[in-house]
Amino acid sequence: MSETVKPQTNAEDVNTDSALAYENHAREFLRTRDGSVAGVDIIKRWARSLDPKTDVLEIACGAGMPVTRILTEAGLNIWAIDSSPTLVAEFRSRFPGVPVQCERAQESNYFDRKFGAVVSIGLLFLLDEDEQLALIRRVADMLVPGGRFLFTAPLEVCAWADLTTGYECRSLGQEIYERALRESAFRLVGHYEDEGNSNYYDAERQGEPIR
Ligand SMILES: C[S@@+](CC[C@H](N)C(=O)[O-])C[C@H]1O[C@@H](n2cnc3c(N)ncnc32)[C@H](O)[C@@H]1O
Repeated sequence: MSETVKPQTNAEDVNTDSALAYENHAREFLRTRDGSVAGVDIIKRWARSLDPKTDVLEIACGAGMPVTRILTEAGLNIWAIDSSPTLVAEFRSRFPGVPVQCERAQESNYFDRKFGAVVSIGLLFLLDEDEQLALIRRVADMLVPGGRFLFTAPLEVCAWADLTTGYECRSLGQEIYERALRESAFRLVGHYEDEGNSNYYDAERQGEPIR
């Protein structure tokens, strides 16, 4: 397993790299996220809509609470990646049977395999615009036809400071996300909003991407 991200405290890097920003605030993040129930009902419903035993990739798993816990309890087979060494170490102690790589989403080889579903909660808007669009294309390539992709990002075009890290987040907005999904041969299944007002895009991969 590769461990590509080294924790740093250099202020400039922390402002330009979400991976370093999260590693530097990992304990603080755990304190708030571990007790959070935001999105639990949506994730449970999504997990139930998948075939039992579906191979699911979780991108930016954090320490796995509550999302990974729900997915494993639903009987799905999980693979996961996250860039924070601290959060990945915590994840490994909580889910010793789940393969997890400590890597940036932009650089991961994603276990060099295909999946029946991909979930990414709280990541896309931490990336640059090009990286966000590249990740949507990459997910399409990793999914089998009929595979599902659930991710969070606002419907609006907006920017804001991440609550835990202060990192600047960027939403490309519904029009651009949905166009990117269509261009990667996804059909939008639905949008959902959770208790914390986060928006979820639920999409299904159909034929081959138009590229
Ligand atoms: C808002 S948290 C969400 C974590 C988890 N999905 C959850 O729902 O609790 C964002 C996560 O993205 C990870 N992250 C930040 N930048 C990343 C990157 N470039 N590649 C992979 N993971 C990243 C952080 O370490 C953190 O675990």
